[in-house]
Amino acid sequence: MNIIEGNIIHGKRLADDLCRHLIEEVAEIKRRFAVTPRLEIVLVGNDPASEVYVGNKLKRAREIGMIAELLRFEATISQEELLGELARLNAEEEVHGIIVQLPVPPTLDKFAILAGVSPIKDIDGFNPINVGRLYSGVNCFVPATAQGVLMLIKEALGSNLSGKKAVVLGRSIIVGRPTAALLLRENCSVTILHSASNNIGAECATADILVCATGQKNMVPAEWVKEGACVIDVGIVTDEKKDIFGDVNFEKVQPKAGYITPVPGGVGPMTVACLMNNTVLAAKQQLGMVKYR
Ligand code: GUN
Repeated sequence: MNIIEGNIIHGKRLADDLCRHLIEEVAEIKRRFAVTPRLEIVLVGNDPASEVYVGNKLKRAREIGMIAELLRFEATISQEELLGELARLNAEEEVHGIIVQLPVPPTLDKFAILAGVSPIKDIDGFNPINVGRLYSGVNCFVPATAQGVLMLIKEALGSNLSGKKAVVLGRSIIVGRPTAALLLRENCSVTILHSASNNIGAECATADILVCATGQKNMVPAEWVKEGACVIDVGIVTDEKKDIFGDVNFEKVQPKAGYITPVPGGVGPMTVACLMNNTVLAAKQQLGMVKYR
């Protein structure tokens, strides 16, 4: 099935292709090393959105043939205890990838917890070593949503993004910042806009590539989009009727955009697929199949 139809980039189809490839990779690892790649997901507390995200990750990992386990902890767990659990997972040879699902309760120091995941098992790319490597423009585990966003942009525009003007709307550590760093690594000229930025609409309208990651339903109107721009919508907002919306007013923007991702079926499935890709890569590195990068 074509990934691009008209001007719509179907992330779900690319994610399915990637996962089909990962099934073969996992089978090869099992055949050659008698080892099954293993993912551990740490969930602290019971944030409802996290429950859904974690469920999707476990399901996908198992479909691909990996072992995926959920480690649940009460929101009252102490920092020391959680760091101790992470140290135990870091030391377990059978564990290849570790995720600490965010958000963690405010009683915990998020950055200390993320630093507690070994950089070689940090498939989320949130350990400060990997964050620093990404900002330095060198290879590392790249946060999955940012990686998915870049793959979708390259499906539309080709692999050479050098000199393109990219605007990233949102500065979260999960999406906005790593996406901007990744686009910079691809030699784009990057602007990050956020809640304190001025002239947001006019700035967005200069973008060849517009990545929207604010989580504000239908925030981006057609006037903010340059004719022919590649528009990537990372937002997922669910209303009372359980309908799902993105950051972009799809109906109005689609006729003007060169390319656009739908919500659902765009970036969301790519995030999970890229996370699986990182887990398989972590296993291959730890088994010596490929070099650490
Ligand atoms: N919470 C929302 N998105 C993510 C993600 O990509 N990784 C983790 N660990 N937590 C999240």
